[in-house]
Amino acid sequence: MAAEKWVYMVTAQTPTNIAVIKYWGKRDEVRILPVNDSISVTLDPDHLCTVTTVAVSPSFDRDRMWLNGKEISLSGSRYQNCLREIRGRAGDVEDKEKGVKIDKKDWEKLHLHIASHNNFPTAAGLASSAAGFACLVFSLAKLMNVDEDASHLSAIARQGSGSACRSLFGGFVKWEMGSKEDGSDSIAVQLADEKHWNDLVIIIAVVSSRQKETSSTSGMRESVETSLLLQHRAKEVVPKRTLQMEEAIKNRDFASFTQLSCADSNQFHAVCLDTSPPIFYMNDTSHRIISLVEKWNRSEGTPQVAYTFDAGPNAVLIARNRKVAVQLLQGLLYYFPPKSDTDMKSYVVGDNSILKEAGLDGANSVENLQPPPEIKDNIGSQDQKGEVSYFICTKPGRGPVVLPDQTQALLDPETGLPK
Ligand code: DP6
Repeated sequence: MAAEKWVYMVTAQTPTNIAVIKYWGKRDEVRILPVNDSISVTLDPDHLCTVTTVAVSPSFDRDRMWLNGKEISLSGSRYQNCLREIRGRAGDVEDKEKGVKIDKKDWEKLHLHIASHNNFPTAAGLASSAAGFACLVFSLAKLMNVDEDASHLSAIARQGSGSACRSLFGGFVKWEMGSKEDGSDSIAVQLADEKHWNDLVIIIAVVSSRQKETSSTSGMRESVETSLLLQHRAKEVVPKRTLQMEEAIKNRDFASFTQLSCADSNQFHAVCLDTSPPIFYMNDTSHRIISLVEKWNRSEGTPQVAYTFDAGPNAVLIARNRKVAVQLLQGLLYYFPPKSDTDMKSYVVGDNSILKEAGLDGANSVENLQPPPEIKDNIGSQDQKGEVSYFICTKPGRGPVVLPDQTQALLDPETGLPK
């Protein structure tokens, strides 16, 4: 490796994921090993993703990282663990055109620049760390010519944030808790790809919240220390539920999928309440959405919509097909209309072609919505303006990809600094 001025870089895009069988609790805080298996659906990266550019150059004097345009410290142990693990697996790299030649052993001395960007607001509480650490590990693996499959990379991403390991795959993903002390068998595996069940439509209600939430990391630590329900859940409930969920996904059995997702989300929030002091992630709006969905499912006789909530008040609603999603959106907008001056295209984002199908692309169309017929009592009316910040319409999506188009890189190819 001569002292040239080249900058060699890779840009990748990685999806986020939503758990339908939740990870909540670690048996090893450092290696990030969970107390139970979990299962997730990967969300379409066109609507929710992280893009990361990683660069290496002999001219860099230290590892540096920028997140959403701001420089952040890489000194935390989670970053350090991921960087160490990935460097340890680096291979030889040669790009004759650019005059780049890196030997395996050189990686220990070379420094990295990393720039990462989420295409959704970090503050929305939408698992940005999952897509972020998955993208960091995936892009570094490509840059460093790491010869490992996605499951092995997932075990590295896991050490950045547990849920990140599931973002190494598209479609439906299981994080196997494993049993080895070193965590080498605590990995993600794909259950089915995103095309397997492509009727599903996902609507996320980003619920307004003024409350500062307990982070997942500290919340689950407190639950492990104080909740007996967590112990029961991990030992008795999740092992059976995981098998049932795998079957439901395999057979595209929406009724079982819904029953299991809703029950698991509710049990996770029950564990939070069973924690001392109790942790409240859902709020009144979240509860109203649950009630709406439960009533609708009951009135239809068979489930139409599954719900799940992570460590925050946002509702992730999974509709069995597009027709149901259109009706769901109409019901949601009836109860949670936008503030008067809001443009519908900024109130329903992601795949907002659904607005047209729902007849909601014109002026005053929300005012003309009728209450869903099954809701006969007075759980709310049109006075809940502002309770939902916005909706995201999306679907199950693909896993990580390299973005070969240099114009999408977040670092300047000459300087290796943010563009
Ligand atoms: C409620 O993966 O954010 O979203 O491993 O400490 O980084 P750390 O926690 P994190 O926890 C996610 C918890 C959850 C459920 C889930 O995604 O399975």
